[in-house]
Amino acid sequence: MIYQEAYEKLKQCGQEHLLKYYEELSREEQEGLLAQIEATDFEVIDACHHMGENKKGKITPLAAMQLDEIEANREKYTETGLAAIRAGKVGAVLLAGGMGTRLGSDDPKGMYNIGLTKDMYIFERLICNLMDVVRQADSWIYLFVMTSDKNHEATVKFLKEHDYFGYNAEYVAFFKQEMAPAADYDGKVYLEAKNKISTSPNGNGGWFISMERTGILDIVKKAGIEWLNVFAVDNVLQRIADPCFVGATIAKECAVGAKVVRKNAPDEKVGVMCLEDGRPSIVEYYELTDELMNAKDEKGEPAYNFGVILNYLFREKDLEEILAKKLPLHVVEKKIPYLDAYGNLVKPETPNGYKFESLVLDMIHELDSCLPYEVVRNREFAPIKNKTGIDSVESARELLKLNGVEL
Ligand code: UTP
Repeated sequence: MIYQEAYEKLKQCGQEHLLKYYEELSREEQEGLLAQIEATDFEVIDACHHMGENKKGKITPLAAMQLDEIEANREKYTETGLAAIRAGKVGAVLLAGGMGTRLGSDDPKGMYNIGLTKDMYIFERLICNLMDVVRQADSWIYLFVMTSDKNHEATVKFLKEHDYFGYNAEYVAFFKQEMAPAADYDGKVYLEAKNKISTSPNGNGGWFISMERTGILDIVKKAGIEWLNVFAVDNVLQRIADPCFVGATIAKECAVGAKVVRKNAPDEKVGVMCLEDGRPSIVEYYELTDELMNAKDEKGEPAYNFGVILNYLFREKDLEEILAKKLPLHVVEKKIPYLDAYGNLVKPETPNGYKFESLVLDMIHELDSCLPYEVVRNREFAPIKNKTGIDSVESARELLKLNGVEL
C-alpha cells in the first residue's frame, strides 16, 4: 500500500491522525506503518457507536446434565470418551492470547508462578492436568496453543525452555490469533508508537478462524480430530479432554458440550446457559432480568442456575459450517498504552478506551445443540484473573491445596 492509498483508507473512517508522524519515520518504519494500515480492519471501531444495541431473543431454560446423572453413567461415558481419545479424535485448544491485564504481569499469563515452596507455573499446572488424561488413555492428545502478536515469542520460548513440562513436543502446535485496533472513547484509534497503531488481541472468539488461517486446521484434519476442547489459560483446576465429559457430549449427540458450575447466588456474575429463540445460548449476568433470575424449573430449582467456565468441547465439523458467520463484537473498556500529544508513550492507570473482541461463548448460539455438563466448582474451577481477592492467585492457591496439589 502506498501513502496515498493509506491516507484514503484512513480518511474514510476518520483515522487520518495515524499518519501524524509519517514524515519523521525512517523508510523502513514508514513501510511498516503502511503495511499495518493495510492489514487493519477499522470497521470494528463502528461497534463503539452501537453499544447496548445487541438485543437478546426470547430466553428459555436449557436443562443441564447434573452431577447425579453424570455419576450414574460415569463408567459408560468415560469409556466412550477414552475410546475417542485413543482413536485420536480429541484435540485440546489452549486459549492463551489474552493480555491478562488484571493480573498485571508483563509476561504471558501462563508464565505466572503460583508456587509457594517451589516453582509452579500456570502453564505447568495445565499440562499436569492434561497429562492425567494422557496417562489414563495411554495416548498423546494434540495441544494447540493460541497466542497473539503480543505474547507469541515469549510463550513459545518459555514452553520450549521448560521442555513443555514433560509433554510430547510432537503433539504441541502454536498459532497466532488476529489483532484489532484499540481506540479512545470517541472511536479514534490510538498510536502506541510513532510507527505503530495500537492493537490488542481480537478476543477469544476468533480461535477457530485463526486455526484455519494459520494452517493448524490441516493438522486437525490430517490427524482425524473430530472434537476440540477449548479452554482458558487461567483456570488452574480445570480438567482438559476429560473423558467423561467427552463421552457424555458424544452420547448426547450434541454439537458442543459446555462445562458449567451451579451458581452460588442468583446474582453471581457469570454467564448462564439458556436457549435463545430455541437455540443454545449464554445470557450474561448483566443481561439477566429479575424475572429470569427468579424463574424456577419444574422441580422448583432456579431455571438459570448453571454458569459457564470457558471449557467447551466443540464438534469440529459443525465449526466448519459456521466459519463464515460473523460473531457479535463486544466493546470492552481497557487500559490502553498510547502516545500523548507530544509523542510520549503513556501507560494509563485507569481505563482510557475500548478494545474490540469476539467471544467464544457467542459461537454456542450458532450451533444447533449444546450439552451443559455440571462439574463440582471446588474441584474444577479456580480462575486466576487478579492478584488478590476474588478469582485471584490467592483464591486459586487455596483451591489447589484443597485438591491436594502441593505448591
Ligand atoms: P479474559 O477474558 O480473562 O481476558 O480471557 P484476558 O485478556 O486474559 O485478561 P484481562 O481481562 O486483560 O485481565 C479469558 C481467556 O481467553 C483468552 C485468555 O488468554 C484467557 O484464557 N483470550 C482472551 C484469548 O486467547 N484471546 C483474547 O483476545 C482474549
